[in-house]
Amino acid sequence: LNQAETLLIETRGRVALITLNRPGALNALNRQAMQELAEATRHFDRDPNIGCIVITGSEKAFAAGADIKEMQHQSFMDVYLADWFSGWEELTRTRKPMIAAVSGYALGGGCELAMMCDIIYASETAKFGQPEIKLGVIPGMGGTQRLTLAIGKSKAMEMFLTGRVMDAAEAERSGLVAKVFPVDRLLEEALKTAETIAAMSMPATMMMKEAVNRSFEVCLAEGIRFERRAFHSIFATQDKAEGMSAFVEKRTPNFSNS
Ligand code: CAA
Repeated sequence: LNQAETLLIETRGRVALITLNRPGALNALNRQAMQELAEATRHFDRDPNIGCIVITGSEKAFAAGADIKEMQHQSFMDVYLADWFSGWEELTRTRKPMIAAVSGYALGGGCELAMMCDIIYASETAKFGQPEIKLGVIPGMGGTQRLTLAIGKSKAMEMFLTGRVMDAAEAERSGLVAKVFPVDRLLEEALKTAETIAAMSMPATMMMKEAVNRSFEVCLAEGIRFERRAFHSIFATQDKAEGMSAFVEKRTPNFSNS
């Protein structure tokens, strides 16, 4: 496995622990992070000594979204031709169980990355949300599909359309999160569950994951392809440029609906 710049990677017995590590950007997910995460999960998926993967961030942020600074100057043609974000599909092809241990912000792509995992554990300080609407765009890493499946249409729609944040208690109540722990116990509990899973029959845990995912995957795959194209086309709007510039310049966006 190559050295990663955006991640810390270690193994603990049969558990692989991947820590998102771009502290200066609240672990915003840029292309490099996407590629390194995909490479790490592909590596551990093939390693017979690993039975479960834990993905975590820092105490302040699991990940504050896709990297807005990287997207700010991209046009529709840029993201369409590069099929921006399609690399995340590689991560979702991981056949071994993955646990997201979320503390602090899991916004936009951060929330979407957590939802690509099979189980989400949260700390009491976790904050989930899809604030893309505030940037004049929509989610592009599966959020419209996975959040809706996880918490139901009305609540999901309310979150997407207002961009509001959900705290850990509400996330647990809504079924987005399996369990909530105090901040200082989160990682330990995620690793403990990962160890339990890693001690099970590996083919059984893999088949379990495949079967559970099958329950919604056919329509999900279609939905995600659709979502990605819609996400690309929104890069043709003025409001995308304005929303992202306003974020970087730390001011309120002035949307022109064009
Ligand atoms: N992309 C790039 N940089 C980001 C970032 C992001 N998503 N989120 C935070 N950062 C950067 C900030 O620009 C800042 O950098 P500088 O120090 O160079 O100015 C640094 O991380 C620290 O952030 P803040 O100063 O903003 O920290 P805060 O504690 O005041 O606020 C926050 C935290 C509320 C999470 C705020 O950072 C924020 O709103 N972030 C953006 C959240 C967001 O809109 N996410 C969705 C992105 S779009 C997306 O994800 C598309 C998709 O579906 C895949």
